[in-house]
Amino acid sequence: MIKRFWGKQRREDVPSADSLTLQHVPEHVAIIMDGNGRWAKGRGLPRVAGHHSGMKAVKRVTIAANDLGVKYLTLYAFSTENWKRPKAEVDFLMKLPQQFLEIELEELIENNVQVRMMGYRSELPPHTIAAMEEAVVKTANNTGLVLNFALNYGSRAEMVDAVRAIAADVRDGKLKPEDIDDAEMERHLLSTTLPDPDLLIRTSGELRLSNFMLWQLAYSELWFTDVYWPEFTEKHFYEAIAEYGRRARRYGGL
Ligand code: FPP
Repeated sequence: MIKRFWGKQRREDVPSADSLTLQHVPEHVAIIMDGNGRWAKGRGLPRVAGHHSGMKAVKRVTIAANDLGVKYLTLYAFSTENWKRPKAEVDFLMKLPQQFLEIELEELIENNVQVRMMGYRSELPPHTIAAMEEAVVKTANNTGLVLNFALNYGSRAEMVDAVRAIAADVRDGKLKPEDIDDAEMERHLLSTTLPDPDLLIRTSGELRLSNFMLWQLAYSELWFTDVYWPEFTEKHFYEAIAEYGRRARRYGGL
C-alpha cells in the first residue's frame, strides 16, 4: 500500500508511485547529490543558491522514497573533503540542516520518519550538531523511512578508524587476527546500524564515488544521471528505482 506523505503538498502533475511498474523496491538507496554549483552558475546565481534549491530536492526525494516504501535513504550532504571550499560556502552548507529541519521536522515526525546522521561530529559547528541531534532525538522511536544524512562523512577515514580500532583490540588480546572478518569491520563503520545500499544514485553526470561508502557499495547497483541535483524530481527517482528493478543482482555468483 502506498502511504500518502506530505499529501497536501503533492503536485498533480507528478506520476504517482503506484502508477509505475516497480518490480523491486530497494531497501536502502544512497544518493550523491551533485551539481548544485553548476545548476546555479547556469542561471547566473551564486553557488549557494544551488545548495538552497538542493534542499527542496531533498524534500521531494524523501517524499518519493517514503511513498515507495524504501526503508533507508542516505544522502551525502557534506564530505570530509568539502571543508576545502570557500568559508562562506561551507558556512552556508552548515546552516542547511538547521534550515531544513526548522521547516520540515514536524512533518517528518508526523510521517514516522526517523532522522539519523552519519559522519564525524567533532568538527561540525555546534548549531549544526544541535539541529541534527534535536531531529535524531525527536524521531528516534519512529519506525518509517530512515533519513540518514551523511554529514562530514568520508569513507577512507571511516575505514582507517575501523582498522585502528581492530588493531587495538588485537594488541590488547581481545581479538585474534584470524577472527577479523567482514562483520568485524562493519561493526566499526559509521554505517554499522544500516544495511548496505542496494542502489546508489549520483546526479550531475559525474561518474565517481568521491569517497562515499566505498566498503558498503561493494555490491550496490549504480545509477547515474546528467540531471543536476536541484532539478532532480520524484520522476527521476522513480526512473532509477524502475531501472534497479530490471537489474539482476548476482553478488559475484552466476
Ligand atoms: C554537491 O554539489 C553538493 C554538495 C556538496 C552539498 C549537498 C547539499 C545539499 C543538496 C543540500 C543538503 C540539504 C540538507 C537538508 C542537509 P556541488 O556544489 O559540488 O556542485 P558542482 O559540482 O556543480 O559545483
